[in-house]
Amino acid sequence: MRTVDLIIKKRDGGELEPDEIRRLVRGCVAGEIPDYQLAAWLMAVYFRGLSFAELGALTDAMARSGEVHDLSSIPAIKVDKHSTGGVGDKVSLVLAPLIASVGVPVPMVAGRGLGHTGGTLDKLESIPGFSVSLSTNQFRDQVARIGVAIVGQTQAFVPADRLMYALRDVTGTVESIPLIAASIMSKKIAAGIDALVMDVKTGNGAFMAREEDARQLARTLVAVGREVGLPVIALLTDMNQPLGRAVGNAIEIVETIETLKGNGPGDLLDVTLALGAEMLLLAGAAASMDKARDQLNACLRQGKALDKFAQMVEAQGGNPRIVEDLSLLNLHTANEEIVHADRDGFISAFNTRQVGVASMILGAGRETIKDTIDPTVGFLFEKKLGERVCTGDVLCRIYYRDIERMVRAREMLRNAIEISGRKPVPLPLIKARIDHNDLKSAPGG
Ligand code: URA
Repeated sequence: MRTVDLIIKKRDGGELEPDEIRRLVRGCVAGEIPDYQLAAWLMAVYFRGLSFAELGALTDAMARSGEVHDLSSIPAIKVDKHSTGGVGDKVSLVLAPLIASVGVPVPMVAGRGLGHTGGTLDKLESIPGFSVSLSTNQFRDQVARIGVAIVGQTQAFVPADRLMYALRDVTGTVESIPLIAASIMSKKIAAGIDALVMDVKTGNGAFMAREEDARQLARTLVAVGREVGLPVIALLTDMNQPLGRAVGNAIEIVETIETLKGNGPGDLLDVTLALGAEMLLLAGAAASMDKARDQLNACLRQGKALDKFAQMVEAQGGNPRIVEDLSLLNLHTANEEIVHADRDGFISAFNTRQVGVASMILGAGRETIKDTIDPTVGFLFEKKLGERVCTGDVLCRIYYRDIERMVRAREMLRNAIEISGRKPVPLPLIKARIDHNDLKSAPGG
């Protein structure tokens, strides 16, 4: 079949054979299929969706389109966690060393922040000297030696996703659940893991704001896992306010270290423990959810997770003394501005996406992938949803360098925090758990 026939087949609602999908992916990476044909096929997928079999074939072909990490020499079940992205989401930074401290290896290939969401790599790079660029061998050796590594993608890693994502970005086809699932899962498979826990965020700061869309994405991710033989469990977690109190880069490393010392905010700890317990169960390292939680709490209490974090920092070129001396993160070089409450009441809503955009304007995030980040700027929220406030109370501290950026960010932040006379009903942090038993419907468009 010619490429145009594959486009027509999908356009008309047909199901492509695995071999036809492999040809499309190979042709894309080899530069043999022009962008306009690939874009047309992506748009056909956007409207027609993919069957589970098509999705499995697409994900597998994308995963094999470049360099694949082979971690089979590490004799343990290697588990990762991936989040669909949020504001103040530093769960990976706490969770990866925590799980490794229990003895379960965590090989994590993470991403950068874009738009209103932050990225694990940017946060780690706010630690002076920390490198997220390890070779395949260095990555494997570090996971074998200390049980954890967090790295970025090389140019050779899943090139099909890089090429397709660039096209999706300019053709209105990013918001397709099957294409998102194939994009995420192909990178997880190529990272060499044996099992995955997905944190699918939902709420006004999430990529999937509507819970039903998040649920459908979660089911699709679990289904892809089943198709390609990778066990996946997904939790739907709340993103209707920043997670924890810190939003930025170095400031989120501070909150990470505090959490590893047992002084973290409750919501961050709860999400971390819920995801972590799932990871231990998938790895066969705990007999029940309660036992998994006990193990995680013990590692936090005994300082093992903090030690593991310091080991990872040292292994990747940073100064492990940051866990004792937070001034090494240079946060004190930024200026501080305080946002006060202008009335009495309760914090009744956050426009979380707007908080993320404000942090980007401040310089903590990037609008385009080429923008540079200032690691020392960010926000510290003194009040969270449901807390009572009085006029003049500190709502948020802004750490900034450029006064014009700060003024714009402060205005957005003021509009993003709602104070009203009525205490809001608390929202559950973990909204659902989705595994293979929840797979009834097809992935759809
Ligand atoms: N994250 C990804 O990795 N891919 C997508 O398509 C969307 C979000």
